[in-house]
Amino acid sequence: MSDLVYLDGEIQPRNRATISIDDRGFLFGDAVYEVIRVVRGRFIEPARHLRRLARSLREVGLPAPALDLLGVATDLIRRNDLGGREATVYAQVSRGAAPRQHAFPPSGTPPTVLVTAMPFTPRTDLIASGVAVITLPDVRWSRCDIKSVNLLPNVLAAQRAAEAGAFEAILVRDGVVTEATRSNVLAVVGGVVRTHPTGPLILPGVTREVVLELASGAGIPVREEELGADELFAAEEVLLTGTTADVTPVVTVDGRAVGGGRPGPVGRRLGALLAERIGVAPGVP
Ligand code: PDD
Repeated sequence: MSDLVYLDGEIQPRNRATISIDDRGFLFGDAVYEVIRVVRGRFIEPARHLRRLARSLREVGLPAPALDLLGVATDLIRRNDLGGREATVYAQVSRGAAPRQHAFPPSGTPPTVLVTAMPFTPRTDLIASGVAVITLPDVRWSRCDIKSVNLLPNVLAAQRAAEAGAFEAILVRDGVVTEATRSNVLAVVGGVVRTHPTGPLILPGVTREVVLELASGAGIPVREEELGADELFAAEEVLLTGTTADVTPVVTVDGRAVGGGRPGPVGRRLGALLAERIGVAPGVP
């Protein structure tokens, strides 16, 4: 399972797929990526993921690689025997291998293109129980809208969360909740679903976008508006959204109960609507 990967034009065994020590993704984090959910061979929101990848590439001045990403991913799903279950596809494009200098390498340097497909098991247990999170300062740069592999602040914050026994770290910049290390943050305040507006300070999550549309469609009011870190504790519900998190309710923040310490009705409703849309069983018993 998942033993075959795509690297630079070739589907090959994972243990033989290697990149150059001069690869700029390795040396500088000079690369962008996407993660797409696949349910029994069906891509979830492929157009939105491809659009975001195209945007990330454009924003960092990387030409779009000549690649039928979904075609390659379909091949990987089939050849890795993942067509009957849930999986994730990871795609990464780096600015290629060249002698180390910060400015771009000569034009024509081929990008390094990696695509993998991995089995995925949704954490329906955590979606049902809710999760603990901690808050940490958001020390990232001011282009978090680009899905780049420069994830060191996310890695360090996720590690702090893991060490604290928490599922995620919610990041706070100037007193405002931006997002989490690998998911977006929504809160239900006064019956309204609130979340940080898109812009340079958050990744425009595909799941966030879909969930906001589902909420609006279900008559649940939505406001894309800054949420103060202190408001987390007064919120009726706090939710995480992401390709692998779906709609995961948060039940404690920094050890303090939020939303009565139990998953709430809005999260449950949105989780069910999302599960229905993507064709999986909702993570609620
Ligand atoms: N992470 N915010 C950040 C910083 C993320 O890395 C992610 C996704 C999200 C949610 O976006 P989406 O709904 O499009 O998955 C928000 C992916 C899954 C990852 O890095 O593994």
